[in-house]
Amino acid sequence: MRRKVIAGNWKMNNNLPESENLISKLISGLSTGKNNCDVIICPPFTSLSLAASLIKGSQIKLGAQNMYYEESGAFTGEVSASMLKSAGCEYVILGHSERRTIFGEKDEQINKKIKKALSSGLKPIFCVGETLEEREIGVTNDIIKRQVNEGLSGLSEKDLDTIIIAYEPVWAIGTGKTATPAQAQEVHSFIRSLISGLFSPASAEKMIIQYGGSVKPDNAKELLSQKDIDGALVGGACLKAESFIGIIEAA
Ligand code: 13P
Repeated sequence: MRRKVIAGNWKMNNNLPESENLISKLISGLSTGKNNCDVIICPPFTSLSLAASLIKGSQIKLGAQNMYYEESGAFTGEVSASMLKSAGCEYVILGHSERRTIFGEKDEQINKKIKKALSSGLKPIFCVGETLEEREIGVTNDIIKRQVNEGLSGLSEKDLDTIIIAYEPVWAIGTGKTATPAQAQEVHSFIRSLISGLFSPASAEKMIIQYGGSVKPDNAKELLSQKDIDGALVGGACLKAESFIGIIEAA
């Protein structure tokens, strides 16, 4: 049985006082309820260190939203894996569709980031997903296959133990349009078969594959009850403690 992993991607939201407020509410809300999930929050860089100190002793784990693959040096505006580690991160989101579309990240760079994260002891949450146009012309599987093949290129089967894959159809992100549970399940199962072919059936069976794209408390249960959906990567709904906790409880 795979565990359920619910991660909140705060994106470019919450300054320090807002971060403190949200995390305090999450901690008190989660301490009263019962859940068996792994819970991860991914605040912006500026709130990571504060978040790390606030979540100590709670069930919440910390992730960042991006990093650069070089160790250090003249890369203005970038943040390294070791910086994230020292700020208290355990996870890092890599290859998010907003990084791919707005900032032009390519599969090859994402692959370098994944390798650097792994060698630095960070656990990547590796995002893949097709655009609406790609879905409409029927190339969803080709796109997912390319992103998975290239993103995970050169990795070992052992590396896979610390990777989470997040399937986020771009057309479902921030749009209020969720993939139906059947649509999501179909792609999740396809991703699992790709992992099986690239690595092994055993690593595919263990792989945590999250769904992301307009996950809300009222659709979470049905999505998360699909056979190959092992968690959620939540955007908008993780910015309010009640709705993020609602999703965790649904899982
Ligand atoms: P929304 O939940 O706002 O659609 O965002 C999903 C997402 O991009 C999480 O990484």
